[in-house]
Amino acid sequence: MDQGKKKAVALYESYCSSCHLLPAIENLPKHIWEQGVLPDMGARMGIRDSTYDPYEKVTRMEKFAIVESGIYPRKTYDRY
Ligand code: HEC
Repeated sequence: MDQGKKKAVALYESYCSSCHLLPAIENLPKHIWEQGVLPDMGARMGIRDSTYDPYEKVTRMEKFAIVESGIYPRKTYDRY
């Protein structure tokens, strides 16, 4: 395994297992990782892509409850 890949695996293992057990990569198809899981998990860590809105598909009341719960940090970091 090359250095870049080793680093990616180390990041995956440390960040993604900080809230729950580490999911197996092969359990989900690539498009779900790209369009669903990664943008959402990023938003939970305060890394939000300007194209991803975690509140897009929820009602106003749900949005209010989610914002109050603080699962998506208000302060976000720009994508680099
Ligand atoms: C800040 C805490 C947190 C971090 C860090 C985190 N997750 Fe999650 N993850 C959650 C929570 C909470 C759920 C359950 C979400 C739900 O059911 O709505 C979840 C659910 C998931 C799921 C199931 C998706 C689904 O739609 O039910 C996958 C896969 C996942 N996380 C992968 C990851 C990966 C990969 C990373 C690292 C990039 C990561 N998580 C980092 C909190 C986190």
